[in-house]
Amino acid sequence: MEKGKKNIVLIGFMGCGKTTLGKKTASRLGYHFIDTDRIIEQEQGCSVSHLFQTKGEPYFRQLEQNTARKISSLSGQVIATGGGMIKSKATMDFLSQNGIIVYLKATPEHIYRNIGEDKSRPLLQVDDKMKKIRILMAERIPVYEQYAQVTVNIAGGTVNQITDRILDALEGKL
Ligand code: S3P
Repeated sequence: MEKGKKNIVLIGFMGCGKTTLGKKTASRLGYHFIDTDRIIEQEQGCSVSHLFQTKGEPYFRQLEQNTARKISSLSGQVIATGGGMIKSKATMDFLSQNGIIVYLKATPEHIYRNIGEDKSRPLLQVDDKMKKIRILMAERIPVYEQYAQVTVNIAGGTVNQITDRILDALEGKL
């Protein structure tokens, strides 16, 4: 583990590209990439959807907090968070300990295009997905903005171009 290198913590709504852009950012910087949803799934041996169905959302949020605590001592990581991790201040405090918080900003229309038909997001398994996206985003955008140390707009451009934007925005901060 490369001590001293800050982590890059990607926050933002479901489907804004935290995983795809996180992997690309990590490979460009020579950092490791981790995804909190995948860590939880590996540790629990089942999918996030299954956890929501069988144990409920508060249980999942506690697992997110435990994961944030465990990874807070790492360095040199690009961390893709679950879109709801900002709901817990304790979780965000852990992620902020050695991390720069980067908010990937997207419009509801963009999110719908990316994940409107996706079955793996338990919170979006409703009839009117666009309405649910708008409601959740209205609640969460102020919280994403509150934690953001760096904000990157993901509208327009290829994965490589948006990654360039992330790296430019981080210049001098790592
Ligand atoms: C959630 C986002 C998901 C996942 C879970 C809950 C949320 O992660 O953690 O379905 O509350 O926004 P992604 O942001 O990677 O989709």
